[in-house]
Amino acid sequence: MKAAEETSKELPDWFPTVAEDVLQYCLPKPGLWVDLGCGAGGLGLALARMSQSTILLIDPDADALTKAVEKAEADGLTGRVVPIVACAERIPLPDESVDVVASRGSIFFWNDPPQGLREVYRILRRGARALIGGGLGSSYPAWAREEFYRRRNADVQAGGAEAVRKWEVPRQPEWMEAQARSAGLYDALIEPTPPHLWMLFEKDIS
Ligand SMILES: C[S@@+](CC[C@H](N)C(=O)[O-])C[C@H]1O[C@@H](n2cnc3c(N)ncnc32)[C@H](O)[C@@H]1O
Repeated sequence: MKAAEETSKELPDWFPTVAEDVLQYCLPKPGLWVDLGCGAGGLGLALARMSQSTILLIDPDADALTKAVEKAEADGLTGRVVPIVACAERIPLPDESVDVVASRGSIFFWNDPPQGLREVYRILRRGARALIGGGLGSSYPAWAREEFYRRRNADVQAGGAEAVRKWEVPRQPEWMEAQARSAGLYDALIEPTPPHLWMLFEKDIS
């Protein structure tokens, strides 16, 4: 039985811990950083707070981007974020123009994940990295992680068997590996430690 205190508690924000992983695993140079499929911009704004870089917030949902920009303004980050309404499959940025691409909880919803990954590779500068997948960050507290997934599983199961299948299929390392292979990213590292699932790759420097 869970302590009532834990099951009703507001969970700590996971974007700072995901952003810490982006910094640790991608070691991005200062410059132009992308939060792809940013939604309301949680990860991108956390990265903005931890750096001096300009954050390109990309999502097809214009309303979510409006919320992200409002939050940036409220947090004193005006001018540090640039919203771009676009899909991963067609990113309106030049080749080799960005210093990191981070994407949390979005690839599972892309129409054509291999095409999106090819676009990510195209826009990365040589030697720059991308971290793409889903999770709460390595240093997220264990109690809160357990509680997060308990609540999420309950929500997904409430949608019935088809909703569970749709949720689970893309959140498997085999699915992630297949997307990377289809995109030609044979060196991508897949980190399948449950419940994390991340793909890390680097643009060839040659
Ligand atoms: C579950 S939300 C995650 C939002 C945010 N990254 C987060 O961690 O809270 C999934 C996001 O992916 C976006 N999305 C859906 N299809 C997309 C696509 N083809 N390319 C880029 N983003 C997409 C949605 O609009 C939505 O904002």
